[in-house]
Amino acid sequence: MSRWIHRYSAGERSNHWAVAISFVLAALSGIALFHPAFFFLSHLFGGGTWDRILHPYIGVFLALVFILLALRFWRRNVIRPRDREWMRHMGDELHNRDERMPETGKYNGGQKVLFWTVVMLIPILLLTGIVIWRPWFAPAFPLVVLRIAVLIHAVVAWLMILAIIVHVYAALWVKGSVRAMTRGTVSPAWAKHHHRAWYRELTGK
Ligand code: HEM
Repeated sequence: MSRWIHRYSAGERSNHWAVAISFVLAALSGIALFHPAFFFLSHLFGGGTWDRILHPYIGVFLALVFILLALRFWRRNVIRPRDREWMRHMGDELHNRDERMPETGKYNGGQKVLFWTVVMLIPILLLTGIVIWRPWFAPAFPLVVLRIAVLIHAVVAWLMILAIIVHVYAALWVKGSVRAMTRGTVSPAWAKHHHRAWYRELTGK
């Protein structure tokens, strides 16, 4: 048997990194528009005018590549009873009491909850973003709708940024995970330790 276990195909990894890069760009260009204290970030996009022009297009691109990612991954993220059990033991996971954790399949309860959180947040960002997009769509809506949409867009964007900070922190914290999304493989020890039921399925051990 090879030393490494296959976890992601090249297509899945490219799709993931297209989402990750466009998310970072959407977040930076959006934060620049959120408050004057962050306006300096607009220099990354060629100044205020270009930042304002590019941000909605980056957002639409993010939504499109995320829809592809969600279509690839949703089946593996369906929440099962053992994931609820995992959520109940989250305190043990955070305190490194791994021996108390229930076995997990390809993804644990936390990863699945994060997946469905992002599945809910991206369409809200896309929809509210389209409503407030001047000069194309905004003139079609009354002012009160624009005000509510801009508020929801900002709140949901911050929630999404927090969710992705948790995702990136977990990816870096669990040693050996980043390799899954760069090379597409993980070590047998990683699989056995973090996703034992998935390891069993693959190896029959
Ligand atoms: C910005 C830096 C990012 C890093 C370093 C990163 C890292 C990773 C890593 C290492 C994995 C593999 C975890 C595993 O197989 O157990 C992963 C999976 C995944 N990532 Fe990211 N990621 C980033 C951004 C994003 C963003 C912005 C999104 C979505 C908006 C995202 C969505 C996903 C999804 C859906 C999975 C598969 C896990 C699942 O389906 O539950 N990632 N990421």
